Amino acid sequence: MAGGRIDPWSSEQSQDYARIIEQFGLGSVDVSSLPNPGMLHRRGIVFAHRDLDVVLGCMKRSEPFGVLTGLMPSGRMHLGHSMVIDQVKWFQEQGADITVTVADLEALATRDTSLETGRKTAIEEYIMNYAALGLDPENTNVYFQSSRPEVQRLAFTLGRRTNLSEFEAIYGFEGDTNLAHVQAPLVQVGDIIHPQLEEFGGLRPIVVPVGIDQDPHLRLTRGIAGKTHWFNVKPRSKGGVTIALSVQDGNQNALGMIGGKVDVESRKTLFNRIMAAISPLGYSDLIANHKHGTLVIPGANIADIASIRMCLLALEREMGGMGLMPPCSTYHRFAVGLTGDKMSSSQPETTIFMDESFEDLERKIKRSFSGGQPTIEEHRRIGGDCSKDVAFQYLQFFFERDDNALLEIKSEYESGRMLAGEMKQVCIDKAWEWLQGLSERREMWSDRLDEFLAPDAL
Ligand code: TRP
Repeated sequence: MAGGRIDPWSSEQSQDYARIIEQFGLGSVDVSSLPNPGMLHRRGIVFAHRDLDVVLGCMKRSEPFGVLTGLMPSGRMHLGHSMVIDQVKWFQEQGADITVTVADLEALATRDTSLETGRKTAIEEYIMNYAALGLDPENTNVYFQSSRPEVQRLAFTLGRRTNLSEFEAIYGFEGDTNLAHVQAPLVQVGDIIHPQLEEFGGLRPIVVPVGIDQDPHLRLTRGIAGKTHWFNVKPRSKGGVTIALSVQDGNQNALGMIGGKVDVESRKTLFNRIMAAISPLGYSDLIANHKHGTLVIPGANIADIASIRMCLLALEREMGGMGLMPPCSTYHRFAVGLTGDKMSSSQPETTIFMDESFEDLERKIKRSFSGGQPTIEEHRRIGGDCSKDVAFQYLQFFFERDDNALLEIKSEYESGRMLAGEMKQVCIDKAWEWLQGLSERREMWSDRLDEFLAPDAL
């Protein structure tokens, strides 16, 4: 985390979540605001978000919204990857449609993985396990970056809205940075934005659940989407909301400028269209300043901004603009690696793979970092430390889905009644049950994976 940056390619990881929320202006997740909160929400593992309230509003009103998630088709799928899928599944149960990016271009550019190998890994390793984890193929669409030209086109057109200085600020790039690391984030912007295109479901909020390390991509995408907007909606300090025109190269005529000057007559026509666009929201009082290109709604408040924006993005599209919503996002904490280091598929002892054998599972958990005391006598007296105990954390993050059972385990351990070896055994048993369930469901889905693929991925 050099210089307080988050580096999506680093092997280091900050655990200072409070600072991250503060520094990057994330929202804290309020579990009581969620319908049927999932296990990761109830346990505080999904800890932060951007604009999640927009998505929660859609759930409440049964309006459409989507989830976008992506995977690098390299290496084997392990526990760390399953956390996002847990959340995707929750969103799907709350009514979301699901788009899954196979980042085969990114893997080609940054890991030298051929498109063929990437495809095979994506389907046999990742999509197979997504199915086994319970994603519903009915409204899930898996696509490949390399075979979706719309995504690549967006990467190019939206690339005009950023520059090297911004990449330097967000990612810490320097003169010797490989340009694959410039291209990959731009394609990822295309991934995140494209479900809103008419041919992929149209204008609706898209939420991207990720680990905190991916937030730089979301900041980039949100910034870029904001720069394309024709209408900016902001709260006014005196109360009310201001809509301000954003005159740019391509929209001057549409926004009532002729020959570089404001044309009051066309501004009036435009403002009438704006008023018609937001009329379903029912504001009676609107103050227009045609020359400045602002429209104040004194009766609106911050809570109305999302709906006003939505109406104006639809209008922008009608008028020929892109009308892109900045993506919403949620962030989960990382489970520590078994050894106490970062969990990573390139270091097999730090994690558990989705098809781990019993022998490997048992060995890895038995050797895992423990929160027990050095001697049994001391352990009985002081008790174990769940915050350090990897076996306990894996029960909490993955294997023990029953909150009461987990609390029981915690109090047994902390009171010293349960020993470190016993905690590990509970974890081994639960993990094996979980892995066997997965394996059975992989079997069930193995010849039906096509159902998850979008038409352009078949
Ligand atoms: N960059 C991501 C990774 O390293 C993969 C990815 C590509 C992605 N496009 C995405 C993730 C869109 C989330 C959303 O794993």
